[in-house]
Amino acid sequence: MHDYRRTHSCGDLNKTHAGETVTLSGWVHKRRDLGGLTFVDLRDRYGITQLIFDPNKNADLHKLAGNLKHESVISIEGIVHPRVEGMANKNMVTGEIEIEVSHLELLSESLVPPFTLNDDTYEVNEELRLKYRYLDIRKGNLLKNLTIRHKAMVATRRFLDGEKFTEVQTPIMSKSTPEGAREYLVPSRIHPAHFYALPQSPQIYKQLLMISGLDRYFQIAPCFRDEDLRAERQPEFTQIDIEMSFGKPEDIKKLTEGMLKEIFKECLNVEIETPIPVMSYHDCLENYGTDKPDVRFDMPLVRVDDIVKDSTFSIFTDQLKNEGCIKGICVKGGAEISRKGIDVYTEFVSRLGLKGLAWMKKQNGEFSSSIVKFFPSELLDKLSNVLHVEDGDMILFAAAKESVVNQALDHLRRHIAKERKLIPENAYKFLWVNDFPLFEFDEEENRLTSIHHPFTSPHFDDIKLIDEDPLNVRSDAYDCVLNGFEIGGGSQRIHNQELQKKIFKTLNLSEDDIKTRMGFFIEALQYGTPPHLGIAFGLDRIAMILCNTDNIKDVIAFPKSLNATDLMMQSPSMVEKVQLDELKIKTLAEEISVI
Ligand code: AMO
Repeated sequence: MHDYRRTHSCGDLNKTHAGETVTLSGWVHKRRDLGGLTFVDLRDRYGITQLIFDPNKNADLHKLAGNLKHESVISIEGIVHPRVEGMANKNMVTGEIEIEVSHLELLSESLVPPFTLNDDTYEVNEELRLKYRYLDIRKGNLLKNLTIRHKAMVATRRFLDGEKFTEVQTPIMSKSTPEGAREYLVPSRIHPAHFYALPQSPQIYKQLLMISGLDRYFQIAPCFRDEDLRAERQPEFTQIDIEMSFGKPEDIKKLTEGMLKEIFKECLNVEIETPIPVMSYHDCLENYGTDKPDVRFDMPLVRVDDIVKDSTFSIFTDQLKNEGCIKGICVKGGAEISRKGIDVYTEFVSRLGLKGLAWMKKQNGEFSSSIVKFFPSELLDKLSNVLHVEDGDMILFAAAKESVVNQALDHLRRHIAKERKLIPENAYKFLWVNDFPLFEFDEEENRLTSIHHPFTSPHFDDIKLIDEDPLNVRSDAYDCVLNGFEIGGGSQRIHNQELQKKIFKTLNLSEDDIKTRMGFFIEALQYGTPPHLGIAFGLDRIAMILCNTDNIKDVIAFPKSLNATDLMMQSPSMVEKVQLDELKIKTLAEEISVI
């Protein structure tokens, strides 16, 4: 039996170890021949150590080293030497030393990898990286991210345990619930034509645990949603899920601010400022066009309806007559942007449904553009004032239905900020968003839907509006936003079964639906339900920001591609016919292939 143990890692050794005999194992990172000597960089997750093979001291070993293939796993024994004068590498922890190898064993030879693992400057296409995920992780950046994610989980558990929260694991094989997202279903063999649903979140279970008397629950919980994917969304993701009884939203905010503080301290040694500022949903949409504003940089959206209504610019005045609105953003220093540059912005917003962008530049105290002639000077002064325009700036205007204006200018604002490098590095700007409406109207489904989920309590003062004016009912929900990402959301819950039933009915669930899908829950609410509230944070989204990436796949060990496939395992995949027979399932796919 070989002894595979190491005395040190590849990131351990320095001058103080000179003269010691050590055993290292790792992957062949790079090999080069110089002046008759062979140098091998040996790598593990802790660092890189230089090995040296001198043919004059051991010709056989030198020959063996010369044949080593990149990414093969080797084990070596040797003596630590300080590097010769002038050859030390100050940028490497182990840069002062090298190992003169006296014994080498090839533990596992590698094929030529599908992409190079020792050169970060080399761009590799994402599909290939996902197909060979284990090699992409080995490269190092993902390993670092996974370590940061781990630290975030450790800090979370330590903090919540300290606050007397109990972690409870809730089922993965669950039941379909009306939480909003499309679910993944799992067929039952024992009960043909019956399906479990994978949980969109542990929402119902955590509320039931409150009824059980567990007044402080948390879970680092796997969640599953069959949604269209984006850069910050995965079908399988993880929440830091929290629920407590007998509290108020302020308590949840204070608690989780403490948790976020601990996570950022642990992972980045950054002190985040608390209390986190609060902005209403209305103000978010009005000033930023979105309910998750990135407030790391300025450039708010400014409504100018009242000013431009007095202009003769018919595109604006017609929009106002058609219940549209006009908002502008002031791009600091934007007067330098060329016509071509503005055309690119126009094309950008056209993809978001906006037909065009109007603009004005201010230079030498004068406004210029083809639309200035429609605005008397007092209107230009007013525009200047409300948009804080200075010499050298440019205003971009959007005129359309309010939702289109908001969406287009929100995206454009963020695009311009990135392009003009207006976003400070290492800034962490948190925001609580509250006073959301309880419902929104879904035009596709032609019914009201919950903005959060149906268990969210309406504002106490607005309960009376549920029947006659549901769209004006505010909810007791709160979202947590960080650098323009929604990192968390939660609410005070409904703990009264009559009110819960009323909400289900307002959402167009029939008595039958309520009974079959949620009967157990309505029943549970009648056995003494404490007032309770909670929140869930997207762990992956927090990890993205901690790891300074805008791609959620960079913080998940084995993520799915944008069309929800695992390119490495080739899942989802077809299954054998006998498996379907056992489940009493017949698919519409013509061909059931064997795995
Ligand atoms: P919500 O649906 O807002 O609330 O989810 C909470 C947080 O989870 C993260 N998140 C996601 N992260 C990655 N990929 C996804 N597909 C994805 N979907 C959501 C977001 C989001 O803010 N049960 C409620 C919480 C509660 O009320 O306590 C819930 O799930 O960061």
